[in-house]
Amino acid sequence: MHSLVLLAAVSAAFGVPLDEPKKFTDYRLISAEAITAECFRAAEELEGRGIVDLWSHGAPEKGTILFSVAPENYDEVKSTFARFGTKLNILERDLQKLIEKDQIGSTYSAYASDRPFSFNQFETYEQIVASLNYYNKSNLLPVINVFSIGQTVEKREIYGVRISNSTANKSVIFIECGIHAREWASTSTCLFIIDRLIRFPKVHKALLDKYEFHIVPSSNPDGYVYTHTSNRLWRKNRSRQARGCFGVDLNRNFRAGPHCGVGTSQDSCSDIFCGTAPFSEPETAALERYISKLHSRIDYYVSLHSFGLMWMFPYSHTHDKCPDHADLLRRAKIGVDHIANNFGSKYVYGPIATTIYDVTGSSIDWAYMTQNITKSFVLELQPGLDFQWGGRGFLLDKSRIIPTGLETLGGLKAMWLS
Ligand SMILES: *[C@@H]1O[C@H](CO)[C@@H](O)[C@H](O)[C@H]1NC(C)=O
Ligand SMILES: *[C@@H]1O[C@H](CO)[C@@H](O)[C@H](O)[C@H]1NC(C)=O
Ligand SMILES: *[C@@H]1O[C@H](CO)[C@@H](O)[C@H](O)[C@H]1NC(C)=O
Ligand SMILES: *[C@@H]1O[C@H](CO)[C@@H](O)[C@H](O)[C@H]1NC(C)=O
Ligand SMILES: *[C@@H]1O[C@H](CO)[C@@H](O)[C@H](O)[C@H]1NC(C)=O
Repeated sequence: MHSLVLLAAVSAAFGVPLDEPKKFTDYRLISAEAITAECFRAAEELEGRGIVDLWSHGAPEKGTILFSVAPENYDEVKSTFARFGTKLNILERDLQKLIEKDQIGSTYSAYASDRPFSFNQFETYEQIVASLNYYNKSNLLPVINVFSIGQTVEKREIYGVRISNSTANKSVIFIECGIHAREWASTSTCLFIIDRLIRFPKVHKALLDKYEFHIVPSSNPDGYVYTHTSNRLWRKNRSRQARGCFGVDLNRNFRAGPHCGVGTSQDSCSDIFCGTAPFSEPETAALERYISKLHSRIDYYVSLHSFGLMWMFPYSHTHDKCPDHADLLRRAKIGVDHIANNFGSKYVYGPIATTIYDVTGSSIDWAYMTQNITKSFVLELQPGLDFQWGGRGFLLDKSRIIPTGLETLGGLKAMWLS
């Protein structure tokens, strides 16, 4: 940690970035609607060859896919989709512009250890750590305990925060954010929840009376840092893999369902690479160690992702209904209705496999199937798929950090207190 801060400080002082960042100049963001299964397979084949970056790994029956494409590959993409008679909608013509709009706060120069999180920018990992120290030292609540659940490959600490209004042995709500590095809205929402619980305990008294919170805002810090310094659209962790590729999709790496089953790839270069074995990655192994010690106290396990406005629960690895299907559906509806009625955003809800896509090795199936945490939920936060609200896909507009935090905490709170 210290050497990292030092390196960052030196780097900032000399004005050189740690790594030459990848530029997305003239990259297009495209949606294709009403696609057939054949067309979807062709898109996946394009992704396998690095021609497109799929932003939605959704099932073809959902009809719409979203992807980015470099200018030199656009003609090939156009002709491939033309073969299927699929119309392409160009949503953005220069992703770099969109990225730069949201980059404030991603430089290492200005960070402070004496302030709470800021929500008018996406915080860097260094700033998150500095602000966690601020909360940890404050006396705003009887229990604010910042701890590390383990280290990443690049030796960063994976921090968690324990928040409670007393040392009583209460049921726990566990929240995990940022497992996919580029989903900044997930991390910013965890930070928002931490901040509101600690700084506005009276507003959240009913919650704090009932629950103790354990929140891991950045479950994949190496990946998160990499999205700030080098490639805003990186998804996986940063472990070195075969064929010179980096990273494992951590949300395909839990022990749940057959390893590397449906919705994953065994190709180390793929964005949905499942890893060589369950918990091969230090980040997932750290979560496993932590949760398996705490599990008998955990009432809710919540995993936050972005984007697409979906409120989901097990299973992800099969279309079979889980034994608690009716209860989880009812709880999800409480959260979704609360958000629709109070904030206007329209979430869809249901089991992961039928709402977004089939996938093995997800944290939620693992929590539900092996840790006996019945109330396990995963949310895909803002922006929605209509992109009318502010931001595109992984690139939530930074002016929407607070609205996203407010509606998410509102919906979750309605469910938790129901
Ligand atoms: C938080 O504060 C406690 C003391 O109150 C200390 O033991 C702990 O190491 C601190 N956490 C971090 C991550 O610095
Ligand atoms: C903290 O929670 C307990 C329930 O565990 C409640 O009885 C108490 O009033 C709360 N304390 C404060 C200071 O809000
Ligand atoms: C990511 O995954 C690899 C496994 O391929 C693991 O060895 C490595 O520690 C992880 N990388 C990071 C940065 O955590
Ligand atoms: C706290 O409660 C859990 C059950 O919710 C129980 O398993 C555990 O032993 C309790 N711990 C203490 C210190 O009382
Ligand atoms: C989960 O519950 C089942 C059945 O009640 C039990 O056999 C199993 O040991 C439990 N697993 C854990 C990790 O507590």
